[in-house]
Amino acid sequence: MSVTNVTVIDHPLVQHKLTLMRSTEASSSTFRTLLREISHLLAYEVTRDLPLQNIEIETPLTKTQAPVLSGKKLCLVSILRAGNGLLEGILDLIPSARVGHIGLYRDPDTLEAVEYYYKMPSELDQRLVIVVDPMLATANSSIAAVTRLKEGGANNMRFVCLLAAPEGIEAFQKAHPDVPIYTAAVDDHLNDHSYIVPGLGDAGDRIYGTR
Ligand code: PRP
Ligand code: URA
Repeated sequence: MSVTNVTVIDHPLVQHKLTLMRSTEASSSTFRTLLREISHLLAYEVTRDLPLQNIEIETPLTKTQAPVLSGKKLCLVSILRAGNGLLEGILDLIPSARVGHIGLYRDPDTLEAVEYYYKMPSELDQRLVIVVDPMLATANSSIAAVTRLKEGGANNMRFVCLLAAPEGIEAFQKAHPDVPIYTAAVDDHLNDHSYIVPGLGDAGDRIYGTR
């Protein structure tokens, strides 16, 4: 399914693994493994239209022109800490990507994103920047991350998450209409504490076994 600037990656394998992740029966270890597997499938979709250029190579039989990715190495940006759960799997597929980290946590009272870390590769303005975080709830965190990256020069971004709330999609698109969203599912709503319902709980806690 694809609404304007929102791509829902509803491949059967993604949906199956996501269901297993949502369940309280999934241990942290199982949760991390499933997240890594799903991130491969999300990476496949978010990179589907990357530009290619032909280079000359020699196979055992002949010289030929064959395609490779063109342009500057793309940049993956993980919103700490839960973003790292998605980052690792995407790096499996794009091992040469540059990686940036932005540390943000959601203040439990105000729900505002609080920044505590920022480290990016150079020349963001010349790279496709793929920002990753499993959860798009109020979108305060992802909006803050993308705003910060734009200030740092990024001008070609995509946002990849696992679960999005309709409220978060609306807020994100209002703030950053130029940044497409890729998600495995759009859930029903946010609860009174701005958790995604049905959701999967706190992604960081489930990945790392904290509480
Ligand atoms: C979670 C999640 C997102 C944010 C989503 O992070 O990983 O970054 O909440 O919520 P929002 O859309 O309402 O901003 P959290 O603040 O729990 O930090 P963590 O990754 O360190 O656990
Ligand atoms: N952050 C999470 O980890 N889960 C939610 O449901 C909302 C924000």
